Amino acid sequence: MTFSPAQLEHARWLFAQTWTFERGVPTLEFLPDPDYPEIAFAGRSNVGKSSLINALVNQHGLARTSNTPGRTQELNFFTAEPAGFRIVDLPGYGFAKAPKDKVEQWGEVLRDYLRGRVVLRRVFVLVDSRHGVKAVDEEIFTLLDQSAVTYQVVLTKIDKIKAPAVPKAIEATEAIIKTHAAAFPEVLATSSEKKTGLDELRAAVVFAAS
Ligand code: GTP
Ligand code: MG
Repeated sequence: MTFSPAQLEHARWLFAQTWTFERGVPTLEFLPDPDYPEIAFAGRSNVGKSSLINALVNQHGLARTSNTPGRTQELNFFTAEPAGFRIVDLPGYGFAKAPKDKVEQWGEVLRDYLRGRVVLRRVFVLVDSRHGVKAVDEEIFTLLDQSAVTYQVVLTKIDKIKAPAVPKAIEATEAIIKTHAAAFPEVLATSSEKKTGLDELRAAVVFAAS
């Protein structure tokens, strides 16, 4: 999707506001009231969800990041006064350096949230550009297809691959998601480190939330 300069500018402005951490939700009874649309960031552990949220809002340390997979252990909700929507940083799925029962518990909370949250407008499913779509990602795609929650795939860490590999990674991912009913056909490519692809993603988030 191509955004107009005005849409890009509006999204940039919105993300330049002060975003704050609203609450961390360990189980679904602690969810905020469903009074605003929500945009969630999902993906395997360590794919760069929290880093990408920080890069989008240009606030280092808003969402906690780590080298250790499994850093984010709750559903973390962020808001900004003029936004009118919430951003949700989800715990990673797949590998996590945490006790197995803990991991299963988050997995369940995560899946229940993705399946049943009425105000969830779109999920951005992050995929590491070096590794591509894995079986666990496809499980999440299928869960979202079945729940009729629309989602868009975002490749992360493109600073870690060579420039000519980027369009190839996009193409390969778009070929996979073609078969998924609720997937947005266009795949985005980002680097939180180099701040690449952020304006496009900001506009996509604002568009999905409005
Ligand atoms: P969990 O919360 O554990 O699921 O991880 P996460 O998906 O939130 O990942 P996080 O943002 O904590 O980042 C994981 C690691 O990847 C950190 O060491 C980041 O510095 C690194 N990282 C994130 N984004 C980028 C990027 O764009 N480029 C590079 N080179 N490294 C990145
Ligand atoms: Mg995280």
